[in-house]
Order: sequence, then C-alpha cells, then structure tokens
Amino acid sequence: MEITVVTGAPEKQKAGVLAIGAFADGTLTPAGQAVDAATQGKVSAALKRGDLDEVAGATLLLHEPAGVAAERVLVVSLGKRESFGDKQYRDAVGGLAKALANGKAGDAALPMTLAVPGRSPGWCAETAARILADGAYRFDYPRQKKDEKPKGARKIVVLTADTPDPQIAQGIRRGLAVAEGMALAKDLGNLGGNVCNPAYMAETARALGKEFGFEVEVLERADMEKLGMGSALSVGRASYAPCKFIVMKYSKGGAAKPIVLVGKGMTFDTGGVSLKPSANLDEMKYDMCGGGATIGVFKTVGRLGLPVNLVGLVMAVENMPGGNASRPGDVVRSMSGQTIEILNTDAEGRLVLCDALTYAERFSPDCVVDLATLTGACVVALGAHASGLMANDDALAAELLKCGTETGDRAWQLPLWDDYWPQLKSNFADMSNLGGPAAGSITGALFLSKYAKAYKWAHIDIAGTASVSGADKGATGRPVPLVSAFLFGRAGVRAA
Ligand code: BES
Ligand code: MN
Ligand code: ZN
Repeated sequence: MEITVVTGAPEKQKAGVLAIGAFADGTLTPAGQAVDAATQGKVSAALKRGDLDEVAGATLLLHEPAGVAAERVLVVSLGKRESFGDKQYRDAVGGLAKALANGKAGDAALPMTLAVPGRSPGWCAETAARILADGAYRFDYPRQKKDEKPKGARKIVVLTADTPDPQIAQGIRRGLAVAEGMALAKDLGNLGGNVCNPAYMAETARALGKEFGFEVEVLERADMEKLGMGSALSVGRASYAPCKFIVMKYSKGGAAKPIVLVGKGMTFDTGGVSLKPSANLDEMKYDMCGGGATIGVFKTVGRLGLPVNLVGLVMAVENMPGGNASRPGDVVRSMSGQTIEILNTDAEGRLVLCDALTYAERFSPDCVVDLATLTGACVVALGAHASGLMANDDALAAELLKCGTETGDRAWQLPLWDDYWPQLKSNFADMSNLGGPAAGSITGALFLSKYAKAYKWAHIDIAGTASVSGADKGATGRPVPLVSAFLFGRAGVRAA
C-alpha cells in the first residue's frame, strides 16, 4: 500500500473513491460538509433517509455524485458524536479499510479533517495508515489459479486543507511499517506447520537481517546442547524438523542497553505425548505467533531504521509425539541449572522459553519482553480482546499497558504473586511444568519468572489475541502494534 499526503479540496480530488465521515446525528466532518455542498446536499439527503447505519465503521457508497471529481463517495459512520474517541476512530477506519479492500476503486482520497479528542495528528495518521494497510492484507495461499489483478485500493492520497503537518507524514510512515511487520507475522502464522517449520522461521529471520542490515545467528541443536538448554531441547526431541534458536541483533541505539524480545516459536503444538484433542488442532500452527511477532517487529524496526538496540530470541521448535519424545515424569535440566519435572508435555511453551530467558542474561538487557501463546487459560480469562500481561516490574508493566491502550492492541495485567508458587511444586525436581487447573496463565508466567530474575521482565500471553477462529480464521499480527509502540516510545518518536 502506498499513502501520500497532498494539500487540496476534497471535492476537487480525482480518485476512484473519496471517503468522508458522518456522525450518527447526521453532522459531517469539514470535508464531508464541503462534499455535501458540492453535491447539492446529496450526502445529507442520504443520511436523512437513514441509508447509513449509526454504528462507527458502517459505510455507504454513493456512485458518481455530480459536483465532485471522484468517481464515488464513501460515507463512513463515526458513531455518536458525544462518544467519539479512540475506539470509534479505529472502528471507522477499520470499516473504511474493509470497504476499500473489497471495493472496485483502485485508489482512494482520504481527507484528514477529523480530530480525535486528546490525540495528535501524528497519532491519527499512524493509526489510520496501520489500519488501512492491515485491512488490505491478504494471505497469498497456494491455489490452482493465480489472481489476475490485486483487488482493492492500493493507493491512498491523504488530503489536508493547509500545508500538511510533518507529523502526518511521519505517522503514516510508522503506521505502514507496523502493518508490514504485522503482515509478516500473519504470513508466518497462517502458513501450515509443514512449510513454516523451525528452519523456515530461521530462514525468514536471516533474509530479513540481510535486507535491513542486522545480525542474525541461528543456533543448532548441538549449540543448544553445549549451552545446556536441556529444557528447550526436550520439547523438540521427537520432531523430524530440528530445533532452531534464532538470535537477531539490531543495533542502532548507540551505547544503550538492549531491549530483548523473546518469542515462543512452536511451529506446531500437538501436545506431544500428552496429546491434544483433535478438534481445532489445525489452529496449533499459530503456536509460533510469539516468534512470528518478534520477527515482524524486526521488520517494522528495520524499515524505519529506528534508533534502538534490540535483540530478538526466537525458540523455533515443533512439539511432536513419537518414540523419542519426552514423557510425563521426565526430569530435565534447564540452562539456568534449575531442574524441571515434566508433568504434561503440552505445557511446552514454558520449557522452551525458560532457556531463552536464561540466554537473554548475556545481553545485560535494559528489559526483556516475551511474547507467547502460552496458555488456554488466558483465552478463558480474557478472550480475544486483551492479551495477558504479567511482569516483575510495575513501571515496565504500566509502560506496556499504555502502549496497548494507545494502539488498541490491548493487554490486561494479572498478578504474579508468589502465593501461586506451591502449585508448581515437584517431589522430583526444583519445579514442575504444570500448575493445575486454577490460575493457569499466572502459574505459567510464574514458572517463567524463575528464569527472569536477572532483569526487568514482562510476559505477554497472546494465546487469545494472536489469531482468530471461525469464518475469518487467521493470524491477527498482534501484538506487533503494542510492541512497536513500546519501541517507538523508547526511541522517543511515539505519537500519542
Ligand atoms: N499452545 C498452548 C496454549 C494455547 C491454547 C494457545 C489454546 C492458543 C490456544 C500451550 O502450549 C498449551 O498447550 N498450554 C496448556 C498448558 C497446560 C497443559 C498447563 C493449556 O493451556 O492447556
Ligand atoms: Mn502445548
Ligand atoms: Zn503451545
């Protein structure tokens, strides 16, 4: 997607479609008023008839309205004027994105005359660019016949009344870069485990490193053995696809201590010997989405040349049953030296992440954030709307939560009290990998916290947010927006 900014009057702009906004009470944005006047009231007449649904994001297409240069006018509902805010703005742009992606127009004009209460033009531009580009995402799946033409509007002209605020162009650049990172995360997630295996993730990271000039090192099984990563290696034992530990280093932040991202890259999670039931098991291809988001964030950061020091650690592993698989009751030794009794081979995320967290110590990190589809319990607790957030540092947690609110890629904090620790007690090792049915997301995080004592750390459980089921089944690209906003903040370029 290409988005440019020009100064001009909306009614005079030539385009396949011109978008304007309307509130539920029938009032229009300044650009909408100009278009209504130019069309002799065609827009307000349609609104009076009740042709546009009141809910933010609903759209109404008017064909060849006389008086405007564009071929079509798309009226986008902004919802009730009194309650207009972040969510309604995002919903409205989301509705617009959907209409543009499915519509016939090849290009669109989008006047920026709408103010969101409490938000800067940079925030508005970034949010809109991200949602529009993300809305144009399509998974290019293998099919018999290739599409003749890409569908939807691929070019958008943003119109401003006066000389555009430079914040707008910068916001658009950031928004497009975030959407690019999301698209990569989505692609990796949507590919089946037969294609997107650990080696594929490693190759993707390598290619990205080449493209954007950052360092990528891939540790093989033998390297991991030397490091003593007995816990991580126990998970991949029975797969024919060898484990890869992907280490990415992006260093444009001068002498600053690095931020380390750790991603769970379970390219398929069968549960292992503690085999999962077969209903919806295909969705366990999404168990690498933490790793996919980590790689996606590197694309965003690389595209922008963001001045940060960032390390990405992705444990890419496949959890399979088989003659060589771990059994319940096996005790393994992690790189930290702590021993773990595996009571359930399906609680494998923590087994791979703990060794990556120990490895992270060598970077003397400013902080470590792990991204993982860790627990089904998180889906039960928070559903598809919020990721679960747990941290050993309140300031870091607050910073991340704020980024969630600012992007709409929200997270919600759960406690990490040691009161839950007895649930992980083992008679045969320092801890077990199974915390029982109560507070499953917390015991999962608490397990990880025992490997994250050397630095400030936050854990984002994206089990419910990284993908959606049903008719629109697919990866969402979350939490690339949240993590990108966090890094923008650290780089001093975040618009609020
Ligand atoms: N990958 C799953 C968690 C998951 C479940 C992600 C549903 C997305 C949707 C994870 O490896 C897992 O199996 N967790 C177990 C942990 C339990 C055995 C302690 C779970 O949630 O049931
Ligand atoms: Mn599992
Ligand atoms: Zn898993």
